[in-house]
Amino acid sequence: MHVRVVKTFPGLLPADDDHPYRTGAHRPNLTEVDATDLTVVAGEIPEDLEGVYLRNTENPILPALGRYHPFDGDGMIHAAHFHDGVADYRNRVVRTEGLAAELEAGEPLWAGIVDSPALSKRDGWGARTRMKDASSTDVAVHGGVALSTFYQCGDAYQLDPVTLEDRGPAPWARPAALDGLGVSAHLKTDPRTGELLFFNYGTTAPFFHLGVLDRQGKLTQHIPVPLPGPRLPHDIAFTERFVIVNDLPLFWDPALLARGAYRARFAKELPSRFGLVDRRPGQAQGTVRWFEADPTYVLHWVNAYDDGDLVVLEGFHQSNPNVAPRAGDGKYDILNRSIDMHEFGSRLHRWTFDLRTGTTREERLDDRCAEFPMIHAAFTGVRHRFTYAMVGAPGGFLFSGLVRYDGATGEQQRYAFPDGVFASESPFAPRTGSTAEDDGYLVTFVSDLRNDTSECQVFDARDLARGPIARARLPERISSGTHSCWAPAGELRRA
Ligand SMILES: [Fe+2]
Repeated sequence: MHVRVVKTFPGLLPADDDHPYRTGAHRPNLTEVDATDLTVVAGEIPEDLEGVYLRNTENPILPALGRYHPFDGDGMIHAAHFHDGVADYRNRVVRTEGLAAELEAGEPLWAGIVDSPALSKRDGWGARTRMKDASSTDVAVHGGVALSTFYQCGDAYQLDPVTLEDRGPAPWARPAALDGLGVSAHLKTDPRTGELLFFNYGTTAPFFHLGVLDRQGKLTQHIPVPLPGPRLPHDIAFTERFVIVNDLPLFWDPALLARGAYRARFAKELPSRFGLVDRRPGQAQGTVRWFEADPTYVLHWVNAYDDGDLVVLEGFHQSNPNVAPRAGDGKYDILNRSIDMHEFGSRLHRWTFDLRTGTTREERLDDRCAEFPMIHAAFTGVRHRFTYAMVGAPGGFLFSGLVRYDGATGEQQRYAFPDGVFASESPFAPRTGSTAEDDGYLVTFVSDLRNDTSECQVFDARDLARGPIARARLPERISSGTHSCWAPAGELRRA
């Protein structure tokens, strides 16, 4: 392994920091490196694993203006580039306008998600306004460009997916292009049309917009999908016929919002609503047909597909979206519980919308908690069979296992990482030349607290229980992180 240090950021966090999401598995990285030919400590990197694994990370550079929430941290992209049976690694801080302003000012300028926007020293970005667009939530690749995004809406920051070279904010998502609304995290690429589907949301009517970029990266649509009020959508899904948007009953309490306070409340008296937005060329594009279902909140959808008069949506249903404080809570207890999948109870679930009757059928597909689903990207929008997801370590926001669901047989495979080893969202990477849906690998970064190291690990997607088939050591332990994507080398070459 050859390591070149590219840049080191100043260490500005308090030396006696006790915040659980800035220490331990979440200790931020301040050094950007290029590392070639990572040392393989076990197994072998398959020659037919070709492409880039990209992962975003909340990696705070400055202290918080108020209280730090783990979703506030500055974006850092970690990348593992697989080629010729070797892996290279790079990491870069996302060059956001907000971070540049704070570094120039030498202090934090924007309050995070758990504090009032009134605390912020400047106007900023975001669905609730006056936040920093930290660009730390998600990363996707479209047209050969990596796009880093933030769940509260903002810019789409562009990077070269292999070198991670900064290419600045995407022009199509700039305030001038989208009425200042920006884009939310969870950009979706349609593998058949090459389009990029995106959305944004906010506190002023119509509260939600859908957008489309064509294969060449040109903005072709930005249309309102009116909602009854401000909502907190985190993800969308699509089929060949419809984009599925959601109006779920977990949103900012309207009475508090009227007084400028932003507190999410689960309105369990309201249904979940799903809007099927027609996207067929030649049809009345943008027409919405709404379906209702039992109240819940969903962070991430697995996939959706058409089935004749039915439209099927799968995702992780929450049984307890409103995790509440308890008597005797310590300083960080409610924070830990609010992002613990075993507390909000996320389980694989299917909603089937009947276009003839306008009704919804619901099925729980598994009794055990999981989240952060991945499928073979070529099956996005059409019927898939295999779903892969992360299993959370109880008590906070760390992933201690992998699960694979076989939708045809109902079989499951599971893998538990050793104690003290935590993984990140683990996308499916098809084997070069593969045709079967599960012929490929899962790729993940792990942070190993036992010996203060990190690795990039590769699993056989058909045999998760076997454990990693390749383990490549990273130059230093990286902070635990979440959303990721896989960009196949073939697609990058074509782009
Ligand atoms: Fe997400």
